[in-house]
Amino acid sequence: MKDNKNNRTPIVIKISGSIFDLTDKENKLEKLCEFFVEQAKEFQLILVAGGGITAKQYIKQARKLGANEAFLDEVGIEVSRLNAKIMLPKLDKTTYQNIPTDLEEIIEAFSTGLHVVTGGLHPGHSTNAVAALISERIQAKLFINATDVEGIYSEDPEKHKTAKLFKRIDIEELFKIIMSQEMNAGTYNLMDLTALKIIKRSKISTVVIKCSTENIEKALNEKDAGTKIEVI
Ligand code: UTP
Repeated sequence: MKDNKNNRTPIVIKISGSIFDLTDKENKLEKLCEFFVEQAKEFQLILVAGGGITAKQYIKQARKLGANEAFLDEVGIEVSRLNAKIMLPKLDKTTYQNIPTDLEEIIEAFSTGLHVVTGGLHPGHSTNAVAALISERIQAKLFINATDVEGIYSEDPEKHKTAKLFKRIDIEELFKIIMSQEMNAGTYNLMDLTALKIIKRSKISTVVIKCSTENIEKALNEKDAGTKIEVI
């Protein structure tokens, strides 16, 4: 679908919070931004930054100080917006130079024809839900969930060596996996329930990949990478 005003394909990418690791020596964030700039001729991207380890550390600290879950979610949102903001100088003229804080602002920014970068929006879910919601609202051709693992596994690959990476997974199967997980601030994991419900109700074409320029390029060009979520 090429339905935006510049006749480019609208794609939403959730960028793993791990990419914003302040100790990163491989310049992953810089390489990623350069790649997004190069894609501007063909794709209009909406990039949703995760909060990563920084958000988790702030949430942990605020929890110790007695903050409740909604407050902790707000802390996570602030960090994800900060992560989004630091991408702006490198993305430069290809990208709307403000971080929208609600869906209406995102739509307005999207209507400029530029790439848009955003972070969290509301307490109670993760940036994956934000990315799913934006995908639904702008009728994105694809939602790429670029995480810190290769895709969706049968079991936690950190704990189980025999864990199998799914090339495809039925959304109902994924619901079962997600339902068994925690849902507290800082622990919404791979895909939260809200994101999954939005993907299901609007049959959003979704892939889960490990966040790298190579994998994102594959996903953009409809080549096999990570796990495709199937919604019938
Ligand atoms: P993330 O979406 O980054 O959490 O938001 P995550 O699942 O840990 O993802 P990665 O690993 O960073 O990619 C960080 C925290 O901010 C709050 C939640 O507490 C979330 O865990 N948050 C974020 C919200 O409450 N609402 C939002 O819209 C976004």
